[in-house]
Amino acid sequence: MIYAPLTLLAAAGALAATPAGFTPTSQNDLVVAFNGRVAASGSVQIRDQVQTTPQVGTTTRLTGSSYAVFMIDLDIPRERLPSPTISNTLIHWLQTGLTPATTATRFNGSTTTGEIFLLTNSSQTAPVQAYFGPAPPALNPLSHRYTQVLVDTSSSNASAVTAFTAAVRDNRIGFDLATVLQAAGLTGRVVAGNFFNVTNPGPVNSTGTGTGGGAGTGTGNGTANPTSPVPTAGAMIHTPLGAMVAGLCGFAALFTML
Ligand SMILES: *[C@@H]1O[C@H](CO)[C@@H](O)[C@H](O)[C@H]1NC(C)=O
Ligand SMILES: *[C@@H]1O[C@H](CO)[C@@H](O)[C@H](O)[C@H]1NC(C)=O
Ligand SMILES: *[C@@H]1O[C@H](CO)[C@@H](O)[C@H](O)[C@H]1NC(C)=O
Ligand SMILES: *[C@@H]1O[C@H](CO)[C@@H](O)[C@H](O)[C@H]1NC(C)=O
Ligand SMILES: *[C@@H]1O[C@H](CO)[C@@H](O)[C@H](O)[C@H]1NC(C)=O
Ligand SMILES: *[C@@H]1O[C@H](CO)[C@@H](O)[C@H](O)[C@H]1NC(C)=O
Repeated sequence: MIYAPLTLLAAAGALAATPAGFTPTSQNDLVVAFNGRVAASGSVQIRDQVQTTPQVGTTTRLTGSSYAVFMIDLDIPRERLPSPTISNTLIHWLQTGLTPATTATRFNGSTTTGEIFLLTNSSQTAPVQAYFGPAPPALNPLSHRYTQVLVDTSSSNASAVTAFTAAVRDNRIGFDLATVLQAAGLTGRVVAGNFFNVTNPGPVNSTGTGTGGGAGTGTGNGTANPTSPVPTAGAMIHTPLGAMVAGLCGFAALFTML
């Protein structure tokens, strides 16, 4: 087992684990695995293989008492236009109350990265935002970057949950992690990050503005877990996410952002 502080790894100057241009940054890899298969930083993922809540972990042992993981889509179209000029962000997952394992786990499969200290939901904390999987629509940009960020909430777990809940309620679209962490008193507490990219095969739907449709067909041939509480992309439009977001921004916006 390796006990080196994560800050030492950062000093080694590895490539950022979070995407270029995203803040807050992290140099430390957050291991994100779907059914034991690691979705490495910078990788391209098949939509249907990333629909169930992933496991997260770190390659060095963490010693805090509670952690939160975020997943944010950095590339949602701002408008239902074939080529919107600016993209926005959308929170896809926010789980608090995670606790780090004291012993390492080895992942199965061909894309292993060795021994991982998993973060587990041993307190059975309800997610602030339940995981819903990537489903980029047939609009520009066709490729969306989904970044996962791990934050040490040990110093203020309860107040962090309050601040995060308010942020998801008020700024689900346009979710700005740096602002949210500041509100929670957790600036500088990012521990690790990761990102992957999911691409709609296109072509871009050039029909222009309107409501309905647009969820895209995605790529690949993975199988979503039918027992998962996370509905598949097609169903997503109609179920909890739709209900939650519709009140904030109307259905037209909903269709553009997955
Ligand atoms: C690895 O495979 C074993 C046997 O199938 C299983 O019990 C274990 O949960 C798997 N581990 C992970 C991390 O998926
Ligand atoms: C963190 O806060 C959540 C929600 O209040 C709670 O369920 C959980 O037990 C807390 N975890 C720790 C390690 O304090
Ligand atoms: C944590 O536990 C809660 C309550 O059982 C559950 O709703 C949630 O999906 C769990 N989160 C993870 C990441 O396992
Ligand atoms: C996603 O990956 C594809 C394939 O590597 C690449 O062409 C595209 O630029 C990436 N998109 C983003 C937004 O990073
Ligand atoms: C393109 O979008 C329009 C307006 O939402 C929709 O009616 C049409 O079915 C979409 N076309 C395709 C190929 O998805
Ligand atoms: C999808 O995957 C299954 C099982 O791996 C395979 O039998 C099938 O041919 C694949 N279909 C396509 C369209 O790739």
